[in-house]
Amino acid sequence: MKGIILAGGRGSRLYPTTLAVSKQLLPVGDKPMIYYPLSVLMLAGITDILIISTPDDLQQFQRLLGDGSQLGLNLGYALQPEPRGLAEAFVIGADHIGGDNVTLVLGDNIFHGQHFYDVLRANLTDLRGCVLFGYGVTDPGRYGVGETDDAGKLVSIEEKPRKPRSNRAITGLYSCDADVVDIAKNLRPSARGELEITDVIRAYMLRGQARVVDLGRGFAWLDTGTPASLLQASLYVRTLEERQGVRIACVEEVALRMGFIDAQSCYDLGRRLGASEYGKYVMDIAQELG
Ligand code: TTP
Repeated sequence: MKGIILAGGRGSRLYPTTLAVSKQLLPVGDKPMIYYPLSVLMLAGITDILIISTPDDLQQFQRLLGDGSQLGLNLGYALQPEPRGLAEAFVIGADHIGGDNVTLVLGDNIFHGQHFYDVLRANLTDLRGCVLFGYGVTDPGRYGVGETDDAGKLVSIEEKPRKPRSNRAITGLYSCDADVVDIAKNLRPSARGELEITDVIRAYMLRGQARVVDLGRGFAWLDTGTPASLLQASLYVRTLEERQGVRIACVEEVALRMGFIDAQSCYDLGRRLGASEYGKYVMDIAQELG
């Protein structure tokens, strides 16, 4: 299974903050936003990951994460010259996918919940077609909305519907088999000029091969697209981290727990982060698990 993080876009709802800085590099709590989707892919056991961003921003992601080897990952980078839609990730990433299954995660989506590792493992092995993750929200009209039958098979999908048929938003985490490249290459841009992920999903749905896994109410799926939601996400992370003394999306910890790196390497990564509380946490975890 390959991974893609789509971390481009305009971030226009966060202007002027995002005029000069990529949204996905803004802090959420005590770490850059992209750590959250990156840790989701890592939890799914994916180590071969392509990061897609804009010509202005790609270098900054490279500066932050390098080739990924320090985390036991193999990170590649690719440009999306213009924000031409989420489904373009599969076209840009065609060589990277190379006939494998792939999981795409949006760079501004934050997932948090117990047993996420088990949920991912149970649903991403032996993947055929596509698997989506649904989340009940009070304002489904802002998202792609999916309707399923009793077995979780997708029966309808609509992008930002005025009258949503369900309250189930389709979150920004999509696992697909290798057919996704051909499906995406054959899409036509929508009325708003984008290659729509909902059109990819619809193609799988018409084959009877789109499944939705409900994340349920023990999960948090947070949006970071507006100043208010970004602040809320930061507060959520900080509240939980302070209360429980554990960190969400600490990529060094995830790498250690997943067995991608050993405790000594993890400790060294923490030490390099100097005096920050985050760095101390990484060193502590390395000692605790070492
Ligand atoms: P959006 O939130 O739809 O768009 P945006 O981030 O550009 O923000 P705004 O609407 O405020 O202008 O995008 C969801 C995620 O996908 C986000 O991480 C940006 C990314 N994205 C791309 O990388 N390329 C694209 O072509 C699009 C549409 C989004």
